[in-house]
Amino acid sequence: MPGTYRIAVIGGDGIGPEVTDAALSVLDAAEARFGFKTERTPFDWSALGYTKGLRVSPEMIEPLKKYDAVLLGAIGHPDAPRGLPEMDIVFGLRRGLDLFVNLRPLVLYDERLCPLKGRTAAHVDMVVVRENTEDVYGVPGRTEGAGGPDETVATEMRFTKRGTERITRYAFELARSRPRKRLTMVDKANAIRIQDLHRRVFEDVAKDFPDVERDAMYVDAASMWMVLHPERFDVIVTTNLFGDILSDLGAAICGGLGSGASGNIHPGRVSVFEPIHGSAPKYAGQGVASPIGAIGAVALMLEHLGERDGGRAIDAAIRKGFASGAIPGIDAGSAPTQAVARVVAEAL
Ligand code: IPM
Ligand code: MG
Repeated sequence: MPGTYRIAVIGGDGIGPEVTDAALSVLDAAEARFGFKTERTPFDWSALGYTKGLRVSPEMIEPLKKYDAVLLGAIGHPDAPRGLPEMDIVFGLRRGLDLFVNLRPLVLYDERLCPLKGRTAAHVDMVVVRENTEDVYGVPGRTEGAGGPDETVATEMRFTKRGTERITRYAFELARSRPRKRLTMVDKANAIRIQDLHRRVFEDVAKDFPDVERDAMYVDAASMWMVLHPERFDVIVTTNLFGDILSDLGAAICGGLGSGASGNIHPGRVSVFEPIHGSAPKYAGQGVASPIGAIGAVALMLEHLGERDGGRAIDAAIRKGFASGAIPGIDAGSAPTQAVARVVAEAL
């Protein structure tokens, strides 16, 4: 029996709503082909709303637990106070729903998108598994001597053994499921001494995965290797902050920020799927932003819901669109948002 899934849709700000609409038209095509259904409920949450006093509280996140998945466009508006709507909505969802995995596949759909010389799809095929609930991320911090010459700000970088273990285990499982079975742990344990925890946990969990080849790297070196030899990476597990940075670097070598999709996941629970790009206000409302990241987010969502064929078919349809030239590029303005979605939907 094909399933019916309840999807909460948060278009958000800027290009968020338009790329989400485009991605939903691809979801329509996937439903028609594979026979499952979705019931979609829009949620009008955004950074623009924040500027009008429409806050998103933890109590408002709670009802999302009744959905099967959440599709998110982008949150961010130039008139909103920096970081505050993100705190409510982005971190509200990630922490409120305990979505400890931020899964960011970095795939080169077509070699002509890659800014690195001579790299093909075979060279760039990795997944960043970013811890999504801990670290210095989205915590208030404190200020002493505000405004004075000795003003000092500080915040805490906090990791738990449990949090580190669960993300590490998830990454090992993922690496085991992939053909190359290779996991790289990325930290900065030579400068951030508390990250010795990550080394210990990594070695400990590794005992359960003797079939997975592993190594550990500092984040500065990992950034270099991602550019020089992307083929040496398969699955990367890392902390919240480093995962944020490495995933933009990785998306750039895949053709740009517009190419990347991500899943904020708690296995077996409601999870949130979004493109990794932001709200890109300067392109908003023009129908020129690439919907590839948002469409990729739909594919990840289908995988999570157990509609694997649907997820894979979308991935194949995107590749086909690039290969034939029907999708000319990723950069904003390279093709109309809706036209790209139509190419993918028709290939389905
Ligand atoms: C991301 C984004 C967010 C993050 C921002 C919007 C707070 O950059 O999803 O990577 O830093 O996590
Ligand atoms: Mg980011």
